[in-house]
Amino acid sequence: MNDNTFSPSLHGEVYYPSPQVVEQARLKDWQALAEFAEQDLEGFWAREAEELEWFQKWEKVLDDSNKPFFKWFVGGKVNIVHNCIDRHLTTARKNKLALIWESEDGKQVRTFSYYALNREVSRFANILKAMGVRKGDRVTIYIGRIPEIIFAMLACAKIGAIHSVVFAGFSVDALRGRIQDSQSRLVITADGAYQNGKIVELKRITDEAIKECPSVENVLVIRRTGHEVPMEANRDHWYHDLCALPVANGKCPTEVMDAEDPLFILYTSGSTGKPKAILHVHGGYMVGVYSSLKYVFDLKDEDRWWCTADPGWITGHSYLVYGPLLLGATSFMFEGGPVYPYPDRWWQCVEHYGITVFYTAPTAIRSLMRFGEAWPNRRDLSSLRLLGSVGEPINPEAWRWYYSVIGKERCPIMDTWWQTETGMFMITPTPVVPLKPGSGTRPFFGQKAEILDEAGNPVPQGQEGYLVLLRPWPSMLRTIYGDPERYVQQYWSKYPGKYLTGDSARQDEDGYFWIIGRTDDVIKVSGHRLGTAEIESSLVSHPAVAEAAAIGLPHEIKGQAIHVFVLLRVGFAPSPELAEELRQHVAKHLGPIARPEAVNFVDKLPKTRSGKIMRRVLRARAQGLPEGDISTLEE
Ligand code: WTA
Repeated sequence: MNDNTFSPSLHGEVYYPSPQVVEQARLKDWQALAEFAEQDLEGFWAREAEELEWFQKWEKVLDDSNKPFFKWFVGGKVNIVHNCIDRHLTTARKNKLALIWESEDGKQVRTFSYYALNREVSRFANILKAMGVRKGDRVTIYIGRIPEIIFAMLACAKIGAIHSVVFAGFSVDALRGRIQDSQSRLVITADGAYQNGKIVELKRITDEAIKECPSVENVLVIRRTGHEVPMEANRDHWYHDLCALPVANGKCPTEVMDAEDPLFILYTSGSTGKPKAILHVHGGYMVGVYSSLKYVFDLKDEDRWWCTADPGWITGHSYLVYGPLLLGATSFMFEGGPVYPYPDRWWQCVEHYGITVFYTAPTAIRSLMRFGEAWPNRRDLSSLRLLGSVGEPINPEAWRWYYSVIGKERCPIMDTWWQTETGMFMITPTPVVPLKPGSGTRPFFGQKAEILDEAGNPVPQGQEGYLVLLRPWPSMLRTIYGDPERYVQQYWSKYPGKYLTGDSARQDEDGYFWIIGRTDDVIKVSGHRLGTAEIESSLVSHPAVAEAAAIGLPHEIKGQAIHVFVLLRVGFAPSPELAEELRQHVAKHLGPIARPEAVNFVDKLPKTRSGKIMRRVLRARAQGLPEGDISTLEE
């Protein structure tokens, strides 16, 4: 079967797009574009890039002379911020709302037109420059879901600094490791962040973390909660104090960057060891994010887009911060979560702001499902026209609930499979593609995917195997910052020439891809990507723990939950109190999102003869499943 066509009679549970959906869609002929992109990859991406503004046009679309270090739009001069903000200021979009923000308690609403956004970002950029931040410097950003996190990210990009956002659900150890690795000179944080009515002490956590970060010269503090926080003279500065200075004016030129100049690093968990700094660049990342959001969520000027992700993860980077601005859209950002104080908080926002396109994670859908239909049914959701899902496989029950209760069987669900590394959607439908609950359908334009066995041969149709991507794409990670060897080894060495995703998947008889899960030691807790290594090293930092192993086990709401196996040091005895203490320890040091669901005390951990913990065996045992091949297990 041709990858670029859909058979007229697809197998299984299929939802075909309605005539209204096709009528509305910007791109009606999926096959024609897929065909074009397959035959002329560079031509396709050049055409997409031409829709954006360049200070100087590229000489070459794709340079693959030094694989796997691909380059895109070589010789082009650009700045993503010019396309997110500056170029809209000379059009009618100048006075259009770029951002609507609502506080968790609903008492505060802040709105920013493109004109106002430019002023805020320019002011922030001028302050960064006055603090000595230069092109290429790394800046760590550790703030909750408030507009200032967007201003800070864009301000860095505007002056050519490299931002490194750390999710506010991480704590001291995670923050410290990321600052140390990136060698940031500046940390931007806030006095605190609200979470379910409580305050997360971001500034205190920052203080604790930077005790061991000699690279940090300054800390810029945003006031959000207004509670007392310690400020160290000459190092810590209130943002609002600096805003009063003459340098903090609302005009700042946008730095001319090379298309391949770094835009940001974002740490993510991989199979082993410490988190990897995934590097994205100005040119290709911009084009990939722009094009994917345009085709998949079909944003138009009249839309109101809501991506519920946190800016601390890639979904927030690509589709909350950069993507909607590249398209000149109006975005809504909400400080809180779905069920606080009531399980209709999100639907209240959809109704109030007239959200038209809504993008969230399966874990949120499942947690809302639990409270029943009455909550969404109390709200008018008729403004919605498209829905989206990301972060983990969506189980068909959650898909159907989302489709019928939220979308009223009118709104197609874009189940977008992608990764921090890919920067943009990689396997995804567009609104005109027939959907199957739980499948991301087919690769995006210009992409091809395959499912391989251990030896690198394509598996027979229907069977599970390693998911790989075959063709380069503009928003692909360029390297692991500071560790190019690990980049090659991690993604390009198992099957030379093919990008290893780390996921297992199968393909059905219609060519649809079904993601099964990670094949490495990554755990997806409520869609958040965590590594076993970080959790384990957090546990071993507790005086009672000699050795630890962490695994992910299925969880009804969270998708996966963290279960840990702990070997105690001599002199310590297992007890429920100690188990609780260890859970708290991980939450306090690594972050509340990493708090283990269950702590199991063991006398021995299954290991290979070379001493590697066999988490696979632990997982199988915990679920009462066959242990598989244990020939490498030590006695
Ligand atoms: C998983 C998040 C199934 C997958 C954008 C991937 C998904 C990892 C989906 C990347 C989806 C993401 N269906 N699984 N629609 N989207 N994943 O880097 O295992 O936080 O490898 O990027 O999330 O997680 P990351």
